[in-house]
Amino acid sequence: RPLPKLQIALDGPAGAGKSTIAKIVAQQLHLFYVDTGAMYRAIAYKALSSGAPIDDEAKVSQIAKNTEVVLDHSEEQRVWCDGRDVTQEIRSLEVSRAVSVVAAYPEVRKRLVELQRLEAERGGVVMDGRDIGTYVLPEADFKIFLTATHEERAKRRWLELRRAGKDVSLEEVARDMAERDRVDMERAISPLKPAQDAIIMDTTGLSIQELVAKIVELAGG
Ligand code: DC
Repeated sequence: RPLPKLQIALDGPAGAGKSTIAKIVAQQLHLFYVDTGAMYRAIAYKALSSGAPIDDEAKVSQIAKNTEVVLDHSEEQRVWCDGRDVTQEIRSLEVSRAVSVVAAYPEVRKRLVELQRLEAERGGVVMDGRDIGTYVLPEADFKIFLTATHEERAKRRWLELRRAGKDVSLEEVARDMAERDRVDMERAISPLKPAQDAIIMDTTGLSIQELVAKIVELAGG
């Protein structure tokens, strides 16, 4: 049922609201939602659970090559790693801390970008990540870059973790997030930045409904 080949690229830093918004927009426009961050998280999770040191680029790259990552497009958006459901596990603090290191490795990116482009071949997508508009889908019909103040993004992430029953302080979440954004923006390959033709939307103080409505309207839905 997805609209043929419509592509919406949704990029931005952690906690800008990408996944929440992407999911609803995809539903309303009958597109697949592709959470590319979940793919990087699955590789980080596998590396951590296999005991590989995260800074061993060769080993982690090898792991990425031999790992099957599948996102299902069911209501719950489950994430599978080598046939195991890792939807919950990839949201842990440990994975969140390791993932930006793993995502900076060229071989890891190469492999996951291939999978992401395959997803977009299958039908229309709302794809969220960091480099979707700049690199993964340079021909996307719509490129949106979501931002919000550091404080607001940290607070959103913290509330999300609290809701999931995780006992962390806002300060800790804010510190981790700042560090992750720094690594994502400063890496040599596909750093986090808006595409030249991206529409930049500041989500500070806007509700999810308002943002979804703006994007759906933009896409002509
Ligand atoms: O969106 P997220 O927080 O789940 O992303 C997890 C990490 O993966 C984050 O540190 C950035 C990285 N990432 C990336 O480098 N490229 C993408 N397209 C998506 C995520």
